Amino acid sequence: MRIVIASASGQLARATTKYVLEKASPEDVVLVTRNVDALAEYARAGVTVRYGDYDHPESLPAAFAGADRLYLISLHELGHRVTQHRNAIEAAVAAGVRHIVYASYIMVEPGCPSTVVPDHLRTHEMLDASGLDVTYLRNGLYAETPVTQILPPAIDRGVLVDNTDHARGAFVHRDDCAAVAAAVLTSSGHEGRTYDVTGPELLSFADITALAAKVSGRPVGYQSVDDATLDAGLRDAGVPDDVRGMIVSFGVSLRAGFGEPLTDTVQRLTGRPPRPITDLMEQHRPLLAG
Ligand SMILES: NC(=O)c1ccc[n+]([C@@H]2O[C@H](COP(=O)([O-])OP(=O)(O)OC[C@H]3O[C@@H](n4cnc5c(N)ncnc54)[C@H](OP(=O)(O)O)[C@@H]3O)[C@@H](O)[C@H]2O)c1
Repeated sequence: MRIVIASASGQLARATTKYVLEKASPEDVVLVTRNVDALAEYARAGVTVRYGDYDHPESLPAAFAGADRLYLISLHELGHRVTQHRNAIEAAVAAGVRHIVYASYIMVEPGCPSTVVPDHLRTHEMLDASGLDVTYLRNGLYAETPVTQILPPAIDRGVLVDNTDHARGAFVHRDDCAAVAAAVLTSSGHEGRTYDVTGPELLSFADITALAAKVSGRPVGYQSVDDATLDAGLRDAGVPDDVRGMIVSFGVSLRAGFGEPLTDTVQRLTGRPPRPITDLMEQHRPLLAG
């Protein structure tokens, strides 16, 4: 079974590669990236590293050649990524790939107001129509986002302000998403399956703020505001339209319950429990403690 991991220099891809190489031999692993030099250490370890860019579909047939299974990680650029994903799926079909494992998102449901969801829904449609075997990994809300991006400035200000109003989500370590992906990529029987990959508990941003205050030793409160107030505050702070839309619609979606699935996928597929968000806070204690 030859496994291709694409977008291979990204954080989720690197963590997945680490776990895959614990189970598969380097000769069975191909890393596809726009930046071959960044992955030289893997090439030295016997892994095949190839150039491939979803914006340059002509680069993909050679990148995917000989692969049985492709790990397709969703990209970042809203709207445009549908074309990028389509290029990857079409190239996979042409290259004879049999199985795609798609890193999707927990909120991907018709009717979810999050602005990141429509691109995933479109990608699911393309994958369903591809004729290939597909496994959907609906990755939960990365715990890294609150711990490394939202909390540090909030702790500096002494308050975290958002529109989530005590709604809860099962925040998951990106590394646990990677461990699940590696388990699926290196074993059989996952074709046609969908897995919700979540952390161990449901937490609100008020809960997360209280935990961060304990770990950092710095006081920080939580305040929920309505959508229009949050939107206006972000606009005044110069946040671009698309990012503002993403942030506000995330809160609306969390309030509507789209972050609530709580599963034992990590334990079931990797044999170890998902790690709590406080582990990540401890890991980033210097950042949180200022
Ligand atoms: N669940 C959540 O809460 C959550 C939060 C944020 C993001 N996400 C999703 O999870 C994905 C992975 O997250 P991450 O933290 O690993 O992101 P990341 O570290 O920023 O990695 C993104 C990777 O995308 C690849 N890429 C960019 N443009 C490409 C192109 N034209 N063709 C092929 N690959 C391209 C790059 O790989 P190369 O340089 O190797 O080509 C890059 O390293 C994100 O892209 C996003 O869709 C989920």
